[in-house]
Amino acid sequence: MPSYPPEPFRIKVTEPIRLIPPEERRTALLAAGYNVFAIRAEDIFIDLLTDSGTGAMSDRQWAAIMQGDESYAGARSYFRLAEAVKGIFGFERFVPTHQGRAAENILSAVLVRPGQYVPSNMHFDTTDANIRARGGRPANLVIDEASDPQDRHPFKGNMDTAKLKAFIGKVGVENVPLGMITVTNNAGGGQPVALENIKAVAETYHSFGIPFYIDAARYAENAYFIKLREPGYADKSTLEIAREMFALADGFCFSAKKDAIVNIGGLLATRDEKIFQAIKNELILREGFPTYGGLAGRDLEAMAVGLYEGLDETYLAYRLDQTAYLGERIREAGLQIVEPPGGHAIYIDAGALLPHIPHGEFPGQSLAVELYLEGGIRGCEIGSVMFAHADPETGGMVYPKLELVRLAIPRRMYTQSHMDYVAETLGKIARRAGSLRGYKFTYAPEALRHFTAKFAPL
Ligand code: F0G
Repeated sequence: MPSYPPEPFRIKVTEPIRLIPPEERRTALLAAGYNVFAIRAEDIFIDLLTDSGTGAMSDRQWAAIMQGDESYAGARSYFRLAEAVKGIFGFERFVPTHQGRAAENILSAVLVRPGQYVPSNMHFDTTDANIRARGGRPANLVIDEASDPQDRHPFKGNMDTAKLKAFIGKVGVENVPLGMITVTNNAGGGQPVALENIKAVAETYHSFGIPFYIDAARYAENAYFIKLREPGYADKSTLEIAREMFALADGFCFSAKKDAIVNIGGLLATRDEKIFQAIKNELILREGFPTYGGLAGRDLEAMAVGLYEGLDETYLAYRLDQTAYLGERIREAGLQIVEPPGGHAIYIDAGALLPHIPHGEFPGQSLAVELYLEGGIRGCEIGSVMFAHADPETGGMVYPKLELVRLAIPRRMYTQSHMDYVAETLGKIARRAGSLRGYKFTYAPEALRHFTAKFAPL
């Protein structure tokens, strides 16, 4: 059995969770139209739907919350956050936002014009959608290794700089208002990006005069992967590595709901004074005054403390080991996962487990439903429900290469016994995988359909 890292914290506050009986789970699932997004959280035993905003705050964060300064303008809490942002990221010009996608919206509103392109390794779906909402065209230029689930490349989130140069050459530098990279690459399995690669990407963008922005949601996990895996970084602290990463960037957007371990919050930062002015104007219109940006003073306090806690190396070692432990146990239970395990989640290869269910009958959906029925566990389908679409030219269906179920691990929330339970439940399902059936839509909206679609079993 793989070894489990002892949690570097003890539990001071608890929240009950309950495994409701099998027949009640079936009733809940039927009422939800077989979509786990529509199940009441109270009816879930282990909730691995997302690691976003679901983490447990520390006693220090809760203490900081009591010190929130709720002044409309110039609150003390803003200046505490500004110190953390300067100390970690090295940026003076930044605004708080209520979450990551609000930062993406403002960044896109300020920089992206219709018909322009925004390359990245892989955009997360909200970033993708915010660029498109401004008429822009997101492009994913991750290395080829990322699409092979069994390839164990240590930095599978890296961007292909040859592809990037060719891409900019093809679309024309005047049509690329900014370039991005996502760390870690959530859409590609939570895989890290090497510092060497971030440097090469920054140099490429800068050689064309294109500003470089980082989608920093899981930057601390990325920094710890660099420390573990990249030659020359073993003796650097994650804080030093983070500073080195952000020194290369002209700006970043950040969902604080991940590595700042808060339940709500985000950031948008830039080095460019003119862009900063435009960001502030847009922020005032949509989020709030620049010193609070859609958050309460107490939220800024919790973020300021959480930013440093998220970088703590004892915590990060535990965090990545916990994820790897779950991956190892799931592998032992006979399932294939996207290798190597990422930082925040394990991505199960449902296509490999259920070869008898074709793409069009949603193998990932079938596994997500079974996880709930068998063990009250909620994961998230990342496959044909989310991505399959009709080709605009031929009308034929285009299916994603991989049919995955993501099990995202909330930070500081679940213990080893919860992870063991998840792996054991998956083992039971794997032993009768041949009996699982496919699903069909009974309702599906046009866009982002996984959130609200309804299904029936075949
Ligand atoms: N960027 C990345 C890489 C993300 O993973 C997310 C959110 C966002 C931006 C948007 O941030 O939710 O604060 O608006 N990811 C969540 C997830 C929702 O489940 O992976 P947000």
